[in-house]
Amino acid sequence: MMENNIEIIRKIISSNLNVAVITGAGVSSESGIPTFRGKDGYWNNYNPADLATPEAFQQDPKLVHEWYTMRRKICKKAKPNTAHFAIVKLEKISSDFLLITQNVDGLHLRAGNQKLIEIHGNIFRSRCTKCHYKLDSNIDPGIEHILECPECGSFIRPDIVWFGEGYSNQIIQRAASFLKNIALLIVAGTSASVSIPFQLAQIAKQNGALLVDINPETTSISGICDYHFKQKAGEVFNLLLK
Ligand code: OAD
Ligand code: ZN
Repeated sequence: MMENNIEIIRKIISSNLNVAVITGAGVSSESGIPTFRGKDGYWNNYNPADLATPEAFQQDPKLVHEWYTMRRKICKKAKPNTAHFAIVKLEKISSDFLLITQNVDGLHLRAGNQKLIEIHGNIFRSRCTKCHYKLDSNIDPGIEHILECPECGSFIRPDIVWFGEGYSNQIIQRAASFLKNIALLIVAGTSASVSIPFQLAQIAKQNGALLVDINPETTSISGICDYHFKQKAGEVFNLLLK
């Protein structure tokens, strides 16, 4: 059964069609980066209201920076895994391709994906809370120590979308319009607790795409998918792209 289903999707993948992928923290868990809501997930040990909201930052910017510095170190040490590399291969063999990731760890970029949007930002980037100043910690390793904007003196914050903040309209429109014209959408490693992945998956479904979910657990997205592989992303992507 499983082999049959893999074979069906392999055929679509090798047919040079338009393909999209939506990823969440589960895809990076095999690289050793904690998820948010799993057993060892961040939100089991930390309260997002204290660390990942504009209010938390206003109240205690140093604490928020320390938390992101801790996470940035984990991300820096981590390496892309089988799933990340398979998604690069998928980009190369598809007619057109878009990866929409909720992950801020930069691993998809490091693996080599070029057609991607990081809808929640990137942990290696910071920006000024007031002016246009941006900082890339890969260029400037001193980011851990910089709290004030060198141009206007306001606070520097992680370039990440926090709870209570909106998405960039332009980015969501780009994702939505691409999803209207695809043969296949693979969703992997997201609990779909944030509403945007489900909404995007629905757009793909309404426009005739085949939907695949890869997640050891069942989520609201599994419910609208044609296939749900209840396994780890690395294993399934390996079978799909080998
Ligand atoms: P979650 O931690 O909510 O969900 C991770 C999902 O990955 C769960 O459904 C797991 O079952 C699944 N999973 C775990 N290991 C896996 C593996 N090896 N292969 C496949 N799936 C696996 O993470 P997200 O859905 O990404 O926001 O969370 C969405 C957003 O909420 C995050 O981007 C973050 C968080 O607050 C920000 O940081 C802005
Ligand atoms: Zn500034």
